[in-house]
Amino acid sequence: MILEKGKAALLLGMQYGDEGKGKLIDVLAKEADLVCRVQGGNNAGHTIWVNGEKLTTHLLPSGVLHEKTKLVIGSGVVIDPFVLATEIKNMISKGVLLSPQRFFVDSRAAVILPYHRNLDVSREKLRAQNANQIGTTGKGVGPAYASRAFRDAPRMAEFCVWDNFLQWLDRHPHLAEDLDESAISSLRDVSAFLAPYIKDCAMVANNALASGSKVLLEGAQGTMLDVGFGTYPYVTSSSLVSGSCAGGLGIPPWAIKRVLGVIKAYSTRVGNGPYPGEIEGTFAETLRQKGHEFGSTTGRPRSVGWLDLVALRYHVRINGLTDLAIMKSDVLCGVDPVAVVTAYKDKRTGEEMRGFPVTIQAWESIEPVLEFVPGWSSLTTSKGKLSKEFSNFVKKVENFVGVSAIYLSTGPDRNAGIWR
Ligand code: IMP
Repeated sequence: MILEKGKAALLLGMQYGDEGKGKLIDVLAKEADLVCRVQGGNNAGHTIWVNGEKLTTHLLPSGVLHEKTKLVIGSGVVIDPFVLATEIKNMISKGVLLSPQRFFVDSRAAVILPYHRNLDVSREKLRAQNANQIGTTGKGVGPAYASRAFRDAPRMAEFCVWDNFLQWLDRHPHLAEDLDESAISSLRDVSAFLAPYIKDCAMVANNALASGSKVLLEGAQGTMLDVGFGTYPYVTSSSLVSGSCAGGLGIPPWAIKRVLGVIKAYSTRVGNGPYPGEIEGTFAETLRQKGHEFGSTTGRPRSVGWLDLVALRYHVRINGLTDLAIMKSDVLCGVDPVAVVTAYKDKRTGEEMRGFPVTIQAWESIEPVLEFVPGWSSLTTSKGKLSKEFSNFVKKVENFVGVSAIYLSTGPDRNAGIWR
């Protein structure tokens, strides 16, 4: 597998989020000594099953169920303290060991307050009036990052020492505008509850690496939603690319030895924005139902599309992928033919576009070129080998982007997958 002693491996989404990273991280987390979230917030969603019961976590790192694995939320994450406290309590009530000896939250991580959540919602309303709604999850993630850049967001270090937090509110009175007495009292309880978990997680991670531990960094969302390299402005607010992930934890970039990019055999997108290869009509609905493509954070139906190899090839380079994982190919069983996007052409001239679109105008001017390949009725043969059609699809993807697929998921079950 991709984890080595004394090294870090990074797992990243290569599409618009929801690539099925959670399952893979669960599999890898079993072998990891430390699993770390490094960016984003509770805009992310990850479904796990505890004793037959479905739980969705938004902030807790994956691997929470593997009790020998320690967990970190790095300084690059923005934290809604209510959400985090609720997730911890939920896990503890299910009998999961989640002590301050096992789970650490970076003292420098910025805090999402009701002010940020309300700002997220009101900004979206404003954008809607100008027909440029992003479709944010409304969790206050973007405003909290903006607030950190404005240098007025409290961090966990300030939040979890109550007097310091009150002083912070005095100095930044706009943050207290949405806080009535009962909200203040709830925040105080949550601050006390979370205080034992606060640590310098950069040191936790560096010490773990120095002592030969296997460290796994868990990316949230996907590169097409990266604030720098995604379909701006229809993106999330954090930097998701591999180059930023070391900084979201506080380890040197060279400690990351493997960068594993995760894709689905098709694609999905929630929220607005450019989407080359989008499928419409009844087939889209069939795929959505078959793949259970509904947002785990907002429940919104996801738009579905074909796998975009042009975008993938671009992001393989930006992220320096060493490996690829292909998820949910089983959802396409019985679909024939299967398409992939292999070029963008200029709608007006019909010529193939050089370079990668940057502006919305550029995205609007392109038309994806679809290439059709034979579909598969099953992923494997009776002898356990990859079926000819599926194997050809995998080779097509590998050859197009220049990275080998080391993992092929074959079904929703944790054990349904092939390591190569
Ligand atoms: P925000 O991150 O809540 O500001 O939302 C910005 C965009 O990113 C919206 O289109 C969201 O639907 C999308 N988004 C944010 N987090 C996720 C995720 O974890 N999976 C998929 N889409 C996401």
